[in-house]
Amino acid sequence: MKFFIDTANLDQIREAQSMGILDGVTTNPSLMAKEGIKGHDAIIEHYKTICSIVDGDVSAEVFATDFDGMIKEGEELAALDSQIVVKLPCTKDGIKAVKYFSAKGIKTNCTLVFTVGQALLAAKAGATYVSPFVGRLDDIASDGIDLVAHIVEVFERYGYATQVLAASIRHTQHIIQCLDAGADVATCPLKAIEGLLNHPLTDKGLATFVADSQKMI
Ligand code: E4P
Repeated sequence: MKFFIDTANLDQIREAQSMGILDGVTTNPSLMAKEGIKGHDAIIEHYKTICSIVDGDVSAEVFATDFDGMIKEGEELAALDSQIVVKLPCTKDGIKAVKYFSAKGIKTNCTLVFTVGQALLAAKAGATYVSPFVGRLDDIASDGIDLVAHIVEVFERYGYATQVLAASIRHTQHIIQCLDAGADVATCPLKAIEGLLNHPLTDKGLATFVADSQKMI
C-alpha cells in the first residue's frame, strides 16, 4: 500500500519525505487555506514547492465546480509538473472532467466519494485514483472502511485500473484497516503515520538496550 501525506504544510511534507516512506501528497482547498496561502500565484508556487520536495504524485484540487472552469484550472495545474494529479469532485461535471483529462493522459483523483456507485462512475471515466472519505463516513455513524473494501472488491472483480485512495484518514488504526481492506493508497495526516511507530515494548526495550550499552562504553 502506498502512503500519501494529506496536508499542504511544507514542514510536515518534508518530515514525512525524510523518513523515506512517502509516495505522494494530497491537498484540498481546506488544507491549502489552513496554510494561509492567498492568491493565484501563491497557490501555483505552493504546488511547485511540494513537487520539488516529494518524488510521487501530488493531488491539486480545482476550485471550480463547473466543467469549463475545472478544465481551465486542471490544464494549468497539470502543466506545472508531471507529478500533478488533477483532483476533481465526484459530480456530473467532475466525472465529465475526469473523462476529459484521462483521454489526454492527465492523471486524475476523483474526490468526495461516499458510495460504491460514485466510485464506479469515476472508474468508468478513467480516473487514476478514486478517494473514498473514511473519516467523514465514520463521523455520520456509517462505516468508511467498509466502503473502501467494497470498492476494492468491485474494482478487482471487474478489472478497473483505478486505484483506491483511502482519504479522510483520521488515526493510525484507520491505516491498518486500509491495509486489511486492500486499499492501493492511504493518504494520512503525519500524526497517524508516526503513530505506526508507537509501541510501549519498543520504548521499554530500547531503554534497556541503551542502559546496557552504557555499561560497555
Ligand atoms: C484528501 O484527499 C481529502 O481531501 C482529505 O483526506 C479529507 O480529510 P478530512 O475529512 O479529514 O477533511
